[in-house]
Parts: sequence; structure tokens; C-alpha cells
Amino acid sequence: MTDKTSVDLTGAPETMLATLYAKALDAGASDSVLHDHHAAEIVAQIDYDWANTGIKPANAPSVALRSKHFDTWAGQFLAVHPDAVVVHLGCGLDSRFFRLSPGPGVEWYDVDYPDVIALRERFYPQPEHHHLVAASVTDPAWLASITSDRPTLILGEGLTMYLTEADGVALLRRLVARFPSGELQFDAFNRLGIRSQWTNTVVRRSGSTLHWAINAPADILDAVPGTRLLAWVPVFESDAFSNLGGGYRVMAAVMNRVPGVRTMAQFHRYAF
Ligand SMILES: C[S@@+](CC[C@H](N)C(=O)[O-])C[C@H]1O[C@@H](n2cnc3c(N)ncnc32)[C@H](O)[C@@H]1O
Repeated sequence: MTDKTSVDLTGAPETMLATLYAKALDAGASDSVLHDHHAAEIVAQIDYDWANTGIKPANAPSVALRSKHFDTWAGQFLAVHPDAVVVHLGCGLDSRFFRLSPGPGVEWYDVDYPDVIALRERFYPQPEHHHLVAASVTDPAWLASITSDRPTLILGEGLTMYLTEADGVALLRRLVARFPSGELQFDAFNRLGIRSQWTNTVVRRSGSTLHWAINAPADILDAVPGTRLLAWVPVFESDAFSNLGGGYRVMAAVMNRVPGVRTMAQFHRYAF
């Protein structure tokens, strides 16, 4: 008999177990990037074959650094907009709300599929100003429940590649049209990243499929009226990556020399 929680997820929702596990492993490392003790505590409470995620101590830091990167960008937005709305798309079991601990002026919405939100309800407290939205991000209906009179941060980490281009563009257009001003922050894979998805253990083992290739900011600027580029950072060039250990630095230097590979994964930031 175990009192751990069983999870039965497949496809895109299952991938959030891989990112959770990566953050848990990172939290236990002496040179932790993210110090996400929430991830470690939740992993300990879930009955799951974590080896199946394909995440190991060697690749965990690359997941943690992506989260760290978006913590930094999100923190910058909240520092300027203490009255913001945050719409955290495809949140999984990520603890960003608790890591950033925004002030009482911020209304924060964590959005993911109902099965994932049910797990969030089990593992996290539900503080004031924090809201859960159990829906596909592509369903236009949930947007009506979000406060829409403030500067708004729309953040999707590890999400865009799971959407079709048509769904992703429609989602971004809907969001930009709904809120008065704000930022879009998300990561993306280019065409090579989508085509080589069979090499991505997390994707393969979850049985999910990647669809939307974003090759450069022009893909967003042309498709989503009202957006203005603030930053575009190939992941291997990000500060967070170069701050990691020697092995990662060597890998980044090699990756940066190969066209297509250099921009395989990128961080995007737009104002609207
Ligand atoms: C790779 S995980 C990333 C989770 C989290 N953002 C993190 O970084 O730990 C992808 C997440 O996107 C969610 N997702 C994918 N497509 C979605 C959709 N159409 N609607 C809502 N959530 C979606 C999955 O359920 C999953 O939680």
C-alpha cells in the first residue's frame, strides 16, 4: 500500500512530469539553478516511473535554466507592473507563482488541461489572487473569465511547440486583442527542432507530437498584429546557459556554429 498519488497522463500533459522531475533533480543538486523545492516535494508524492521521462541529472539543468530565464523576464515585468494580470499558459505543475511570490496587486491565472489542474489543486495551496483555469488554451471560452483591464503578462513555457500553427496564431491574436497592453513571453522550436522531434526523449516517451515551428520573430510579428519585438534569444546564447558548467558551455559553443541548430530552441519576448 502506498499513499502516493497515481497519475495517468499521456501526450502533452505527461510532458509536464518530465519538466517537474527535472526541476526536482535540479533542486537536489549542490549547484542548483532554480532551487525549486516545490518540484522536489511534489515528485516525492507522486507514484510514477520517473526514469521513463528520460530526464537524468545531466539534462535536468537545461530545463531548470529555461524556467529561470522566464522567472527573470516575468520578474522584470512584474517589477514595472505591480498591478498586472499574469496568464500562465500550459503551467503544468510549475511553481512560478510561488517562486516569484507576486504582490497583492497581481492577479495570476494558471491555465492547463483539466487533468493537470486537478493535480495542481491536490499539491498546491490556492492563495488569494491566484486562479486556476482548467481548459485547453486553444478553447476561446475561458478568456472571458480573465480580468482584462490591466497590463497583462502572457507566459507560455514549453507550450507553443505542442500547438498547431493555426491554433497558436489564433491564440496569440485573441490574447493580444483582449488585453489593453502587456507582454508575450514564450519559448519556441524552429523547423529543425520540430522535424527532429523523434530525438526528443520526453516527447517520444509521452507519445505527444510537436507541430508549430517558429523560426524567427518575423513569424510572430507578421502573424500577430500589434506585437513589437523586445527580445529574441537562441537558448544556447542565453546568459543562463553560459552560466552552467563547462560541458554545457562547450555544447553551446558547438551548437552556435551550426546554422539551424543555433536557433533550434529560442526565447521570445514581445510587447503589445
Ligand atoms: C512541457 S510541459 C511544460 C509545463 C510547464 N510550463 C513547465 O515548464 O514545467 C507542457 C505543458 O503544456 C500543456 N499543454 C499543452 N498543450 C496544451 C493546451 N492545448 N492547453 C492547455 N495546456 C496545454 C501540457 O498539459 C503541459 O502541462
